[in-house]
Amino acid sequence: MIPLPAPNGIHARFAVLAPDVFRLRVGRENGPATPPSGAVVDRPAPEVSATVRRSRTGIRISTASGEFHWNGRTCAWELMDRRGLVAFRSRGGSPGFDHEGRPGFALELADREALFGMGEGTGILDRRGTVREFWNIDVLGHAPAIHPALSSLYVAIPFALSLRDGRAAGLFWDNPGRQRWDLGATDPRLWDLRAGTGIIDLFLILGPTVESVVRGYSRLTGTMPMPPEWALGYHQSRYSYETQARVEAVAREFRRRDLPCDALYLDIHHMDGYRVFTVGKGFPDLPAMTRRLARNGIRTVAIVDPGVKDDPRFPVLRRGRRRKAFVEAPGGTGDHVGRVWPGASRFPDFLDPAVRTWWGDEQRALLDQGIDGIWNDMNEPADFDRPDKTLPPEARHHTGDGVHLHAAVHNLYGQAMAQASRDGLLRHRPGQRPFVVTRAGYAGIQRHAIVWTGDTSSHWEHLREAVPMLLNLSLSGVPFCGGDVGGFLGNASAELFVRWLQFAAFTPFLRNRSTLGARDQEPWADGPEVEAVARETLRLRYQLIPYLYGLVRQAADTGEPVMRPLRWHHANDPVAVACNTQFLVGRDLLVAPVLEPGCPSRSVYLPNDVWYEFWTGERRVGGRPVLADTPLDRIPIYVRAGGLLPLAPVRNSTREPDGHTVALHLWQGHEGSLNRYEADGE
Ligand code: NOJ
Repeated sequence: MIPLPAPNGIHARFAVLAPDVFRLRVGRENGPATPPSGAVVDRPAPEVSATVRRSRTGIRISTASGEFHWNGRTCAWELMDRRGLVAFRSRGGSPGFDHEGRPGFALELADREALFGMGEGTGILDRRGTVREFWNIDVLGHAPAIHPALSSLYVAIPFALSLRDGRAAGLFWDNPGRQRWDLGATDPRLWDLRAGTGIIDLFLILGPTVESVVRGYSRLTGTMPMPPEWALGYHQSRYSYETQARVEAVAREFRRRDLPCDALYLDIHHMDGYRVFTVGKGFPDLPAMTRRLARNGIRTVAIVDPGVKDDPRFPVLRRGRRRKAFVEAPGGTGDHVGRVWPGASRFPDFLDPAVRTWWGDEQRALLDQGIDGIWNDMNEPADFDRPDKTLPPEARHHTGDGVHLHAAVHNLYGQAMAQASRDGLLRHRPGQRPFVVTRAGYAGIQRHAIVWTGDTSSHWEHLREAVPMLLNLSLSGVPFCGGDVGGFLGNASAELFVRWLQFAAFTPFLRNRSTLGARDQEPWADGPEVEAVARETLRLRYQLIPYLYGLVRQAADTGEPVMRPLRWHHANDPVAVACNTQFLVGRDLLVAPVLEPGCPSRSVYLPNDVWYEFWTGERRVGGRPVLADTPLDRIPIYVRAGGLLPLAPVRNSTREPDGHTVALHLWQGHEGSLNRYEADGE
């Protein structure tokens, strides 16, 4: 790294990672050690040529793509693109540290600058004018009606994509402690970034396109690995299918009614007293159950929470204690004991590589009984007894690189758990692609797991919110994501359930879920009319799997997400840029979900191109809104002229042996392309 001149007590360095990717690291001399990055993938850095010019006041570093200026007296800095246009410019005496040693800095916001990404979060796509906190929390029911001022959720990704006059640039602050970004909420011209611990470790990416920034960020933090093909199927879950008999009955019902379903989930009631990796009396013969489900093409996924019941007779606890595998209490006075579903519980220290290996091996107890996938929950981690609902800030982690306090590594906990799960599956199911779903994560979570957006509520406003939430996650390097169909908390009306399912059929992760005590929400629960719509929706989803699989392959290669905001392909169309209620699936499919009750029609903005209405084939010239009919069995979908859609044949509910036959649908236009990807699914 190139040392930068800096005032006394400050230690600043800069690196050129690629002509358009830079790293700025600012710490205090003799400051505390920083934890190993759980976000950035360690790769040998290629040689990049850069010109360094020093002056009396500072330093200028330029590459083929941009130039960085640094003032050694004030620590002011700016990054400009090749044409000299500013991507980021600091304001005031920043960056620096406050009197308690907490790092922070401020950036100027330009007129019409919009800010996207920042992972999971409530609100609209453009986050300018809001405050975001990066601190994973367990929050029950995150609809604005319940939590109006929620500024963080389960996944913290301190990566922003800025768009200034159609030019994109990216900023990622790698610091897994608490961060707070005021994105022009207090002063509309100022983006203020503060952290509670650690140092300033910034990764700056020059665009100019949204695509190039997301690709750059994905090179830094890694892309998702290919999931098994069944990850793209329809999944059914509830809190909880409490017995083996109930799970098997649900599976039979799917098949009897000729409804597709690729996976059923076991929530916490499958365990013996919520002891992780155990199976309770409700499931007298789990291996026989998973075998029967598998014969019908249905996989079984089990929930795995981090809290290990503090029961001295519980073998997992005993083995963990022998290995000193649990997070220590403040001051190192024994293990921290908190409270989660099992009651008093200890928390595996997933930041320790040896603990990750141990945990991954413990999963064998489930795998040996035919469990196909792991679902990590409560891994922010949640600790019910504490006022802040998580581990004490002074709890101690052994990271394999020294001891770090929880406050400094909090956002890495869930991520490291997902890593343990995935790596364990790789070891114990060699030759099969692991399937892991997680609730908590940090930047880079896509390398380990699929992200689902936690405890939504069965409200229309929450369905509306799901569109920008999944799009911003997608822009934050997490292409494989989805939310609970129907909303988790409360009872969805039949209409809300149908509209949610129609929307989710176009999101990568498609899982129907409802909570304890809520009414049944299987596709047949609302009678034959809803069941028929659900069947058609799911059949369309299964027809689209070859298209989606190709997009997932692309995401695995480059980080380009499956779900894209309209601006991804139409950055110069101002209406497309502002659109929160529609999205693209790949380049060719535009989806306009119905997000309001009782709507016989909705307005759809077609970006500047030619489009075909999917259902009727009607040709539409874009650059204007159109009115689409939306009877209950229709969701407006449009295909770009030139679009190529590989569609699987409509099939009945069990997968056919010739499942790889596709019909290529060509939508007449002047130009198109297709990534077609095939594999054996595993
Ligand atoms: C919280 C999760 O978000 C929810 O989906 C699950 O059903 C409960 N924990 C119980 O495991």
